[in-house]
Amino acid sequence: MIKRPRRLRVHPEIRELVSENSLSISKIIFPVFVKKGKGLFLQNKSLPVAYTLSPDRLIPFLKELHSKGLASVLLFGVSENKDARGSDALLKDSIIIHAIDAIKSKIPNLLVMTDIALDPYTDHGHDGIYKNGKILNDETLEVLSEMSTLHAKAGVDLVAPSDMMDGRVKAIRQTLDRSGFENTGIMAYTAKYASCLYGPFRDVLSAEVQGDKKTYQMDFRNRREALRELKLDLEEGADIVMVKPASWYLDIVSDFKTFSDVPVAAYQVSGECSLIELGAKAGLFDRDRGILESTRSIVRAGADLIATYFAEDLIRILAK
Ligand code: PBG
Repeated sequence: MIKRPRRLRVHPEIRELVSENSLSISKIIFPVFVKKGKGLFLQNKSLPVAYTLSPDRLIPFLKELHSKGLASVLLFGVSENKDARGSDALLKDSIIIHAIDAIKSKIPNLLVMTDIALDPYTDHGHDGIYKNGKILNDETLEVLSEMSTLHAKAGVDLVAPSDMMDGRVKAIRQTLDRSGFENTGIMAYTAKYASCLYGPFRDVLSAEVQGDKKTYQMDFRNRREALRELKLDLEEGADIVMVKPASWYLDIVSDFKTFSDVPVAAYQVSGECSLIELGAKAGLFDRDRGILESTRSIVRAGADLIATYFAEDLIRILAK
């Protein structure tokens, strides 16, 4: 007898009934760039779906999105005083500290996460302390731990180390605990690959890299190695583990789903979002369908949470 899987596809109601994954706005993390100043609400040509905001514009913008269901944001700081050590990252009144403070006092229920790495603040564009063409792993851990503690003091909910230094989750966890921030979480960028897809993001931050990041970010040929990073981050105390980029790395998301005992996040990075945005603009496909298909596929692969610049669009699309 012929088997008929199409029976369950015959009309929208039955498709809805048997659909395997649901994407809800509570699972979305919205990455936002913050910059000192007044009245800034900037968009960038290479990443048209993202915003760079000054604190005065940030709060009303996020308040509105929060009222429509947005649950969390991931903050990146834009620096205009870059130096070799990334000193802006450790300022007690950095733009990130201002932003955390403002959000926590005006929109206390919006979860705030911050990216922990030095590349927005260094003139060489690397994520850590960089001397004579080399990244100094262990020196970098100290800076990242200090940066995390400053953010924790300002009230951040989770810090998100994106630097891929060895041992950083443990170092940050220990420092946070010692400083009395045992409830500040760590969302680790666990399998972060050296990808061309970060191009638009680096453009937004004017973070051109001297050389490349291949001595710390992962080689995109490798799958098994991601499990090693996963094991380490879990041992070291990560509360959420992330795969990045997302769409070209769904095998890794799927592996994490199987082997992680903490929630799995996936980051639909700048290049992924801009490909969809610009492809749709060129008339290659429908924009909303592109946004939905890409994000639902990431969920299907096993992601519990998605960081994506399409958060605003998803709020609108999912409300339909
Ligand atoms: C910083 C960082 C990067 C991204 C997130 N955190 C860039 C990089 O590692 O070069 C990329 C995000 C995106 O492309 O949207 N370490």
